[in-house]
Amino acid sequence: MFLTLLEKLSPIPFETYMELALYHPDYGYYARGNVPGKDGDFITSPCVHNVFGATLALQILEAYELLNRPKNFVIVEAGAGAGYLALDMLNYLSLKGYQFPYYIIEPFPVLRAHQEETLIEFKGQISWFKDFKDLPIFEGVFLCNELFDALPVHLVEKREGELFEIWLEFKGNEVTERLEKITEPEILKRVQPYVPLWPDGYRTEVCLKAEEIYKALSQKMKRGLLVIIDYGYPRADYYHPGRKRGTLLCYYQHKTCENPYFKPGHIDITAHVDFTLLRELAEKYGFINLGFTQQGPYLASLGIDKVFQEVSEGSFKDKEALKMLVLPEGFGQSHWVLVQGRFLGGQKFPQLSGFRFSNRLKLLY
Ligand SMILES: C[S@@+](CC[C@H](N)C(=O)[O-])C[C@H]1O[C@@H](n2cnc3c(N)ncnc32)[C@H](O)[C@@H]1O
Repeated sequence: MFLTLLEKLSPIPFETYMELALYHPDYGYYARGNVPGKDGDFITSPCVHNVFGATLALQILEAYELLNRPKNFVIVEAGAGAGYLALDMLNYLSLKGYQFPYYIIEPFPVLRAHQEETLIEFKGQISWFKDFKDLPIFEGVFLCNELFDALPVHLVEKREGELFEIWLEFKGNEVTERLEKITEPEILKRVQPYVPLWPDGYRTEVCLKAEEIYKALSQKMKRGLLVIIDYGYPRADYYHPGRKRGTLLCYYQHKTCENPYFKPGHIDITAHVDFTLLRELAEKYGFINLGFTQQGPYLASLGIDKVFQEVSEGSFKDKEALKMLVLPEGFGQSHWVLVQGRFLGGQKFPQLSGFRFSNRLKLLY
């Protein structure tokens, strides 16, 4: 059925295909209720151990103090998956005597149902919103884990010195890629300085969707922090001439696959995050950039070792999970944490405790 729809809509840019394959209400991978986890296609930090969310709760508390304990302080999460991050943060905050309202932005009823089940004990504290635009004006913390890598991207390729966009033609089970002239000037603008350095046949991605999120947040967040955790690179690294096939990657049953047309709607399709873009968008929409470092040093600097003692029994399995969250072989190096803020009272550039060990923000300039 999905293939019939794709054939009917053809030709379409790759970005439209990725949007449909992940988010079409009936056929999209996420819209159909897929969440990360052992039973899913891939694992994310919140599924690894509750110490991840518990440690991030310390970032929430730091923001609460920084904002001078506002009465209406809230936590906002987008792309909450199965709800584990929310659960582990709320559990730890409750252990410390805090009960902040928690807003989840979740477009899909089936995923909301999943989260409601996970978060049953915090039912009274949580509100769900279908879209960023439905959020009330708030102060507090917006956070997301692996949200930006799940946004649809434009696929571009260099041929004989010129840059083209990949469009797709679906016919039955077949899909044909073709090169079309780029129509969005923003695509060219983003990669212009790098194109002359690329070899012929170089292929990469450009994400235009991230801006919608910053625009919406700038309209809804009065004061607070944005805490963004994802895998990606600073732009010069993202568009390095050696990265000839870009960063597009698919996940199916815990295996990676490089063919985004394999089982449309049944595999996860992702692209790494251009963190320089998020730095620029923050500036464009009135946020200041405060810290950028890898997940390992960030969690260590926040104090994951102490939190680990509080929330785990220290079993072999617990320790393996901790290693997975902080060590380079796990998520400690591939994943980065970017913290941005706005109107933080007297302290325009507060020293956040997650960046005491390392702050590599200058990589994004
Ligand atoms: C890779 S999953 C990550 C789930 C979870 N944060 C985790 O770490 O396990 C990405 C999620 O982002 C959601 N998502 C993508 N765009 C969104 C948007 N504009 N608003 C809310 N959720 C969105 C997808 O539906 C999906 O559930």
